Amino acid sequence: MFDFQYFTPTKVVFGKNKEEKVAELIKEFGGTKILIHYGGGSVVRSGLLKRVTDTLDTAGIKYVTLGGAVPNPHLGLVYEGIELCKKENVDFLLAVGGGSAIDSAKAIGYGVANEGEVWDFYDYKRKATGCLPLGVILTIAATGSEMSDSSVITKEEGLVKRGYSSDYSRPKFAILNPELTMTLPDYQTACGCTDIMMHTMERYFTNGGNMEITDALAEGLLRTVKKNAVILRDDPKNYDARAEVMWAGSLAHNGLTGCGNDGGDWMTHKLEHELGGLYDVAHGAGLAAVWGSWARYVYKNCLPRFKKFALNVMEVENTGSDEEIALRGIEAMEDFYRSIKMPTNLRELGVNPTEEELVDMAHKCAVGVGGQMGSAKVLDEEAMLAIYRASI
Ligand code: NZQ
Ligand code: ZN
Repeated sequence: MFDFQYFTPTKVVFGKNKEEKVAELIKEFGGTKILIHYGGGSVVRSGLLKRVTDTLDTAGIKYVTLGGAVPNPHLGLVYEGIELCKKENVDFLLAVGGGSAIDSAKAIGYGVANEGEVWDFYDYKRKATGCLPLGVILTIAATGSEMSDSSVITKEEGLVKRGYSSDYSRPKFAILNPELTMTLPDYQTACGCTDIMMHTMERYFTNGGNMEITDALAEGLLRTVKKNAVILRDDPKNYDARAEVMWAGSLAHNGLTGCGNDGGDWMTHKLEHELGGLYDVAHGAGLAAVWGSWARYVYKNCLPRFKKFALNVMEVENTGSDEEIALRGIEAMEDFYRSIKMPTNLRELGVNPTEEELVDMAHKCAVGVGGQMGSAKVLDEEAMLAIYRASI
């Protein structure tokens, strides 16, 4: 068991119609001039943005808007947002949307609160000393960015996708209304469930210390999302299932399922980030496409955890050797991905990299993690390439 700090300063307001509280919450956290930041237009089409601006108008809160955060959000829009905030004296950010809008808002917040080039933080050149305060109205349960310290941005030049984490960017509040996720395409719902499970699994598959309580929380979370992902596949309007998944999404990435371990493995995420940067695939689908190859590459090095996962999460038969049980668990997870129409290899993901592109991704991935990384098994560039090759 490792020592740990657990810091979750985000006020969560959960339930139907809770977006009506947005003006009250902004005032509570001292916002007077707001940048409302959103994605490609789903919040316009659903009428959510209009409801939010009406609420702010009624409360007399001034705001400007900036849409256009694309999935795998771009640095170019971040620069635009920084300029707009400075010009309009914005003192509070409101992200309305998913991880992409939230992450883009966090990057804008860093850019306003710190002098100089904002990409430096994502390029590991220096650390931020602050971030503009941020609130969130979440429309997709997936990344957990509504409570996390992370932000992931893609630099268009060279298609480099990088994350930066600091407590400064943890949102002040997160409004979680499961009803807002009802307009999601089924594919995005499944991508979200995959990402939520992966945030838990990244922390679960470690060779660092573990705590029984953390494992129990993680396994319960994984079983809950697995069950409710299937309910949502068959019944997308099921409020209770949406609520289970939404809360799981926040808990999966606010640090709770990492307390007492070594921080987790995170290599599936790092491998996916290169795919997201290069091919602009949906994050959750990219994770599903490489996870099986990663798992088969590393499981022998982390056998007790893979066995525990197989038995306690995938609920496979407890017969045969530890290796057989572990492999059965990996297969069961891939069957689950298929059952919710997630890919289990790059072909199913719809990308067909050349050998040269695989080599390039493995190189960028290795550079991005400073040479090598992983806890279930430490991976270097050669290992990353082997996993990409196996995932074709
Ligand atoms: O852009 P709009 O028009 O809003 O459409 C989005 C987008 O096309 C749509 N959508 C969202 N809510 C909707 C909706 N459509 C209809 N109804 C709704 N209620 O869904 C699509 C995906 O949205 P996006 O925000 O891109 O999804 P997600 O939340 O999965 O975010 C993905 C990004 O977050 C990063 C990923 O790498 C990726 O760039 N991550 C961020 C993390 C963090 N900050 O902690 C951790 C994650 O591991 C992840 O890396
Ligand atoms: Zn993720």
